[in-house]
Amino acid sequence: MDKIVIKGERPLKGKVKISGAKNSALPILFASILTEGWNTFHNIPNLRDIQTTTQLLEFFGMKLKNGWINHTGDFCVTANGFHSHEAPYELVRTMRASVLALGPLLSRLGKAKVSLPGGCAIGARPINLHLKGLEQMGAKIEIEGGYVNATAKKLHGARVNFDTVTVTGTENLMMAATLADGETILENAAQEPEVVDLAHALIKMGARIDGAGTKTIRIEGVPELRGVEHTVIPDRVEAATFMMASAITGGNILIENTHSSDLESLIAKLTETGVKIRQEKEGLRVEGPKKLKAADITTAPFPGFATDFQAQFMACMTVAEGNSTITETIFENRFMHALEMIRMGANIKIEGKTAIVSGTKKLSGAPVMASDLRASAALILAGLTADGITEIHRVYHIDRGYEKIEKKLRKLGAKLKRVKVKY
Ligand code: EPZ
Repeated sequence: MDKIVIKGERPLKGKVKISGAKNSALPILFASILTEGWNTFHNIPNLRDIQTTTQLLEFFGMKLKNGWINHTGDFCVTANGFHSHEAPYELVRTMRASVLALGPLLSRLGKAKVSLPGGCAIGARPINLHLKGLEQMGAKIEIEGGYVNATAKKLHGARVNFDTVTVTGTENLMMAATLADGETILENAAQEPEVVDLAHALIKMGARIDGAGTKTIRIEGVPELRGVEHTVIPDRVEAATFMMASAITGGNILIENTHSSDLESLIAKLTETGVKIRQEKEGLRVEGPKKLKAADITTAPFPGFATDFQAQFMACMTVAEGNSTITETIFENRFMHALEMIRMGANIKIEGKTAIVSGTKKLSGAPVMASDLRASAALILAGLTADGITEIHRVYHIDRGYEKIEKKLRKLGAKLKRVKVKY
């Protein structure tokens, strides 16, 4: 169990290169289950969740060509030689996204046994909509001993209308539909950039997909898919985190290789708080003001304000001028970072789905506990602006979604280090 120790009050300056998107790389790696032949994926981030996915693909019997080719984020994988269709609890419990094996295994092999992901700090996160959609496509689903047992002689097309927008639900069914008989229509589909990136990779593989990035996606099944070469998009959540790190420290940074089109709702909000953001040739320039102004947010599916940006935005609002309200509509328990920020002197009141943040002059450094991936990023931001020393415990959460975050922050002038904790 490591901790990150930060000495705050240093404005960030310089350039940062954003890694490949975790939430795009994960479904694309699982999509390789569908293909005959080798796939080469570029810009795959070296994260714990990616390593877990590697273990899962090997567990199914898939071949990886030395996994990481000279650690440039290139990744070769082929789906020949399956000897298992089971995603075991030991692996799934560490990464909920393992549920993305369900659709591809079912579509390619006609069977899949995937452990139910179980609870998570930010909410119950059921997969009922994934299962309901697969049943509509002809799958027989049984839940037994904490596992989903799914079989299907051959999936067929269906019209699936999601009661709630679900990112991995959309991805799972889109992948399953690529080899199904006939047309599948996904309505009220997720429009996140990662869904679009997955669709681009699947289309290169030979899938017939229309409408990815809109609320209605049409997939016409084909007999088989072939291995391809694909480069994963940059991680907009990592980019957002660095934008808010510059905002909260009154910094001036250039975020390279970033698509501002994926960040419009955040750019609008941060501009409202007094942050100056402009697109330059090599990337996005983000200049934080001396003092941020308060602004209200309500999280929503893309293109709304992303729930994955909420904790980091709350950190910014704790030291803004005025009061802000932060409403979390996607997950039922995504305010745990607030309790830790209050220990640093923040003034936050939680009322159901809404947190009311009254900006204070300054935060004071303190030992705090990370509870989930984006909460740990938010606590790093709080530590960057706080006076004195902040210690963030349980940083294994951060290793799931941010590649070399301390190195990137130190390069921007932050004073932080990772310390091994014995107990
Ligand atoms: C994806 O999770 C992301 N993970 C999450 O990022 C992100 O926070 C989330 O989408 C929302 O944008 C990956 O892409 C790997 P959902 P996902 O299904 O797909 C309910 C991070 O920090 N729901 O869109 O699991 C669910 O409970 C992670 O990288 C059902 O009720 O989220 C939630 O309230 C955290 N039944 C809402 O929908 C279902 O079958 C949205 O969840 C599925 C979802």
